[in-house]
Amino acid sequence: MAQVHNWQLGRDMEFPHEDVRPTRQFAMVMDTNKCIACQTCTIACKQTWTWGKGQEYAFWNNVETKPFGSYPTGWDLRSLSLLADQAWTDEVYEGTTVFEAARSGQVVAGWLPSSEHWAQPNLGEDEPEGTIDGGAYLDELPHDVWNFYLQRICNHCTYPACLAACPRDAIYKRDEDGIVLVDQERCRGYQECIAACPYKKVIFNTSTRVSEKCVGCYPLIEQGEMNKCVTTCIGRIRLSGFLNTPEQADPSNPMDFLVHDRKVSVPLYPQFGTEPNVFYMPPIQAPVDFLEQMFGPRAEGAVEAYRRVITGEDPELQGLLMLFGATDRIIHRFEVNDETAYGYDEDGELLVEVPVREPTYVRMLRDEERDTFRTNIT
Ligand code: SF4
Ligand code: SF4
Ligand code: F3S
Repeated sequence: MAQVHNWQLGRDMEFPHEDVRPTRQFAMVMDTNKCIACQTCTIACKQTWTWGKGQEYAFWNNVETKPFGSYPTGWDLRSLSLLADQAWTDEVYEGTTVFEAARSGQVVAGWLPSSEHWAQPNLGEDEPEGTIDGGAYLDELPHDVWNFYLQRICNHCTYPACLAACPRDAIYKRDEDGIVLVDQERCRGYQECIAACPYKKVIFNTSTRVSEKCVGCYPLIEQGEMNKCVTTCIGRIRLSGFLNTPEQADPSNPMDFLVHDRKVSVPLYPQFGTEPNVFYMPPIQAPVDFLEQMFGPRAEGAVEAYRRVITGEDPELQGLLMLFGATDRIIHRFEVNDETAYGYDEDGELLVEVPVREPTYVRMLRDEERDTFRTNIT
């Protein structure tokens, strides 16, 4: 075992390989507050990558409703139950990771989902926590009745549990972008990777008898384009790019700004210890204790940072949020002035500019000029 540094845990930890941190790291940010669970991303990914025989239950991207949804069924509760202790002191994790919780003879603590676990991708969809009396209304945040949508892809982890567990060394992490791939020629279908990934984002192809996973749309990333699940997103909730470590963070880089500077985006279950590279802006309507068990001790601060956009106190972050979904190209640098947000490519060429605030037009019910009434059809 090597000692590696996991910045999300605020400490060093054991990992079976020497530090595998790549030259640059692909990352994605999801704004859970804007997702409508239309599953366009899910279908866009499926039509691109997993439409073949043996891939019927392969959802490299899925969107599940929290607190009751999970795909495969119960993935989060079962993976969390492998960790004996999950305590944090301030922002340092004192508990055990999936590597540290491994029993004798195991590389990673894990469990293998059954075919029943893979059978119900929509379990718990739109089910809220709590009840509300008929005629009552919600007037404060957080309120008793809540749910939210969690968008899930492979996290292209800095310390991938799937990679660590494969006895064939069939999984590798690319140095040029940190994307984690399964070598389809080397894989022999041992499924140790599936048992080891705490997020359950490796999926067995029942036809080819080898494992597959989200490929981070690497052919697009290589050409400076964002992923299919990002560019097809109806709610414009996603942005992908490259993330630096906290020590090397550049606030003009959108990913660094969201994760390290404004700290408005947090990792999913950092306590697993894999240092995931997909980050979430947590839902502002959910209880803080639920968010903290899910996104770690920085969750409350992330919600506060998001609220500063709503109150108009952070126009720079607001401008960046307006750049979500505004271009198919990867934004390497952005800037915001009073009224406009600008996104630039790797060579500093302007890709896109958008207004920080969308103009609002109020249409009167009675149009005096045309001497007519308008009907509100929405
Ligand atoms: Fe591997 Fe799972 Fe991390 Fe993806 S999320 S890199 S499959 S451990
Ligand atoms: Fe699918 Fe590409 Fe999104 Fe991965 S990044 S879930 S391969 S669309
Ligand atoms: Fe290795 Fe997983 Fe294939 S453990 S052999 S990559 S099924």
